Amino acid sequence: MSWTEISKRGGLAVITGGASGVGLAAAELLAGRGFHLLLADQNAEALETAATDLRASGARVETRVVDVSDAHAVNALADQAFAMGRVAVVMNNAGIGLGSSCWDDPEAWRKTFDVNFFGIVNGVQAFVPRLIDAGEPAAIINTGSKQGITTPPGNPAYNASKAAVKVLTEQLAHELRQAGAPIDVHLFVPGFTYTGMIAAIMPEKPEGAWTSAQCVEYLFDRVGRGDFYVLCPDNMVDETVDARRVLWAAGDIAENRPALSRWHPDWAEAFTAFEKG
Ligand SMILES: NC(=O)c1ccc[n+]([C@@H]2O[C@H](COP(=O)([O-])OP(=O)(O)OC[C@H]3O[C@@H](n4cnc5c(N)ncnc54)[C@H](O)[C@@H]3O)[C@@H](O)[C@H]2O)c1
Repeated sequence: MSWTEISKRGGLAVITGGASGVGLAAAELLAGRGFHLLLADQNAEALETAATDLRASGARVETRVVDVSDAHAVNALADQAFAMGRVAVVMNNAGIGLGSSCWDDPEAWRKTFDVNFFGIVNGVQAFVPRLIDAGEPAAIINTGSKQGITTPPGNPAYNASKAAVKVLTEQLAHELRQAGAPIDVHLFVPGFTYTGMIAAIMPEKPEGAWTSAQCVEYLFDRVGRGDFYVLCPDNMVDETVDARRVLWAAGDIAENRPALSRWHPDWAEAFTAFEKG
């Protein structure tokens, strides 16, 4: 089912992590294209501010305070959504970026997986069976990260959670295709984007970052072309560089290089030459 068809029919867009960052920017963009909105977030105050601003610009918005790591709460979100009408878009987007290291702080690993990965599992399990039963065209957008694809060192729990999101989303796309359901699935991978998560550590927007609005414009342009993988560029990294980094990461296995060879001193020169093309 094409995005053009989904957009033409309109309906409800449900967005988790909808009170801030790329989730809020997606809400603004989709409201501008005639969708009505159900925004879910655990931050009640930010959610209310977002809804007030959106309503002031004419959007039809409902909100629900939800912790996506709680399967019951996400089921209740789906109950509310289907009671509101036709669900056209589900954007499983809420995420956190706690620090982590491999042999320390198991609680950070659990919390990161509970939100970033199980939050999306909960969204898929609450919405997909009902979307299939409804038999209407719909799109599911799951937010991953380049950190789950090329996995740069620094935050292993975050990387592993986002790698799991990539795998889940690929499997979901395959299973829905096999089932013949009119539901498109997309893996949304923001580049470096100046959102609440980044503002918490950088008070000013760095030159290299995109805005959330730029990021979601790119997302829905690519969704409109039917792309499954949507890797957004930013002001430092373009599509060609991203593609080379992805190929290099896959080459670690195919070429039997050391793990994360991109950051291994013995491979620095070879990687730099490869990245330049
Ligand atoms: N900003 C970037 O550069 C970047 C890059 C790659 C991926 N991402 C991903 O984009 C997504 C959105 O993040 P953002 O950058 O817009 O950050 P953000 O902090 O502005 O927005 C995240 C939103 O999710 C909400 N949230 C967090 N935990 C939640 C929970 N348990 N239940 C419900 N809501 C919860 C927060 O309250 C916040 O409103 C995340 O999945 C993040 O990992 C961001």
